[in-house]
Amino acid sequence: MRAKVFLVGAGPGDPDLLTIKAARTIAIADVIVHDRLVSDAILDTAPAVAARICVGKQPRRHPVPQDEINALLVRLARTGLTIVRLKGGDPFIFGRGGEEAEVLAEAGIAFEVIPGITAAQGCAAAAGVPLTHRGLATGVRYVTGHCREDAPLDLDWSGLADPGTTLVLYMGVAQIRQIAARLIEHGMPANMPVLAVANGTRSDERRLASTLLGIADAVTADGLANPVSFIIGDVAGRDLAVATERAVPHLVEPVREVAHA
Ligand SMILES: C[S@@+](CC[C@H](N)C(=O)[O-])C[C@H]1O[C@@H](n2cnc3c(N)ncnc32)[C@H](O)[C@@H]1O
Repeated sequence: MRAKVFLVGAGPGDPDLLTIKAARTIAIADVIVHDRLVSDAILDTAPAVAARICVGKQPRRHPVPQDEINALLVRLARTGLTIVRLKGGDPFIFGRGGEEAEVLAEAGIAFEVIPGITAAQGCAAAAGVPLTHRGLATGVRYVTGHCREDAPLDLDWSGLADPGTTLVLYMGVAQIRQIAARLIEHGMPANMPVLAVANGTRSDERRLASTLLGIADAVTADGLANPVSFIIGDVAGRDLAVATERAVPHLVEPVREVAHA
């Protein structure tokens, strides 16, 4: 049987934000190799017989190194089973999906990428914040606040400080003080609105609104914990969350029925 791996985006957490294609693919999986951020609600949509392998954490709570994940995918694919590599958000946005795709291609294994709603979009929609908005933001940039141990954050600070572009910062909790300070240093107004969204789109979603100057202290005082995305820009001051409501009935079950039909 021809080996194939599906690199699937699980979206930001709410199972109803899975794409129909993602849900249909999960429903035919023999093996699911998933990250820590993929919620149980989504994993529970997989067939009961599908094996689940979590590569987000090892017993001693360290993530499985990326080269081991790559080798695992190749090994599993060669069994001829249907392998779903399930990642939070979109597999190609800060998800190392590109590296996995490269390794599969080098090993001659067919793969298909199924996009997911990335955290920026999920968090912004949940909070009623438009990432671009006429007169406020002509563009949006996704940036990572993650840096290797002891390495300084090497970002294009002058470019990022453009007040006409919304920034969405992923993996930025640990570095938010430094990032906010560098943006202010490079000309972004200190009173620029910032919205921090933790566990966006999940039942335990939390939001913290502040300014560039105040966000680090606000996060520390609140103890806001990962996963957190920061929306930085004038659009973040347009928090329409009070007016947004979730009134759409759950779709996951009907989608599974279609997938099994
Ligand atoms: C390794 S990156 C993975 C991003 C993912 N591939 C995506 O497209 O959303 C993990 C970071 O994504 C962000 N993130 C993922 N899910 C989130 C959620 N439900 N709410 C807020 N931020 C989230 C956080 O910044 C977290 O530290």
